[in-house]
Amino acid sequence: MILFSGSSNQLLAKAIADHLNIPLGNVDLERFSDGEIRPWIKDDVRDKIVFVLQSFAPPMNDHIMECILMGDAIRRGAPKRMIGIIPYFGYARQDKQHRMGEPVSARIIAKLIEVAPYQEVITVDLHNDAIVGFFRIPVIHKSALPLFARILPQYLEGDTVIVSPDVGGVKRARKLASQMDLPLVVMEKRRNLDAKDVSETVQIIGNVSGKTTVIVDDIISTGGTIANAATALKEAGAKRVLVTISHGLFTGHAFELLEQAQIDTIVVTDSIARKAFPSKKYVIASLASSLADTIRVIAQHA
Ligand code: R5P
Repeated sequence: MILFSGSSNQLLAKAIADHLNIPLGNVDLERFSDGEIRPWIKDDVRDKIVFVLQSFAPPMNDHIMECILMGDAIRRGAPKRMIGIIPYFGYARQDKQHRMGEPVSARIIAKLIEVAPYQEVITVDLHNDAIVGFFRIPVIHKSALPLFARILPQYLEGDTVIVSPDVGGVKRARKLASQMDLPLVVMEKRRNLDAKDVSETVQIIGNVSGKTTVIVDDIISTGGTIANAATALKEAGAKRVLVTISHGLFTGHAFELLEQAQIDTIVVTDSIARKAFPSKKYVIASLASSLADTIRVIAQHA
C-alpha cells in the first residue's frame, strides 16, 4: 500500500505513516503562477492499494481541487484500489437547502470525490451523519468521541455533565454522555441566517450549577458558539467549562475570543493541521492511531 498526503495536513499524514511504519508516497504538489494545481505522483501505483489523505480545511477549495486532481493522477497509474482519507469534510454544514436559491454543497463535494474517482472514503465526525448517503461509494465514518472519552477523565473534577451547545448536536453529545456514563444538558442556540457566523445561546435545558461542564461540538469556526455557550454556562453557575472539538478551524478572531472566554480546557483533534496553539488550555487528541488502524484493516482485506 502507499499513503500520499495532499498539502492540507502533512503532519497527520506523517503521524499515520509512522504508525504504519511506511514512508509517505512521493508526490510533487506544484502550482502554476496563476494558481493552477499540478500534482505529480512519482511512485509506481500499479496494483497497489493507494490512500490519499487530504483535509478539506482552509483554503478549502484549493484542498478539494488538489485531492481530486491527485485522484485522477493516481487512477491513471492503474492502482488496485484508491481510498480518500478526509479527516475534515468541509462544506458539510451546507448539508441541506436552508432556503430556496441555495445549493446542497455537501452533496456536490461528495460527487466530485466520486468523479476523481475514489472508490472509498474514510472520514471523521461529519457535521451530519446523513452526508454518508450523499455518496454512492462506501464511506467509513469514524468518530473522535471514543478518543475524547479516553482523554477527558484526567481533566474532570466533581459532578460532571456533557453539554450540547445546540439542538442539532444533541445526538453527538448524547453518544459521549453514554460512553462516559454522564448526564446530558442541552443548550438552544439561534443563528442569524443573514449574518452567517453570528449565533446566541437562548436557553439551557438541565442543571449545570456547581458542576464541571463538557461542551461537545463538531466544529469551532469563529469560536462564537463555544464562547457564547461558555458564558451562558458560567452565568448559570457552572464551576468549570471544558470543550471537545472534532475539527478546529479557528477562523478570524477565534483564538482571541476563546482566550477571553471562561474555558478551562479545549480538547481538539488534529483533523486540521496547526503547528501551535495560543495557550496551554488546548489539548491535542490525535486521530493518527485510529486512522492507521482503519488503513491496516482495509489493506488486509483488499
Ligand atoms: C454548527 O451547527 C456547528 O456544529 C458548530 O457549532 C458551528 O459550526 C461552530 O461555528 P462557530 O465557531 O463559528 O460558532
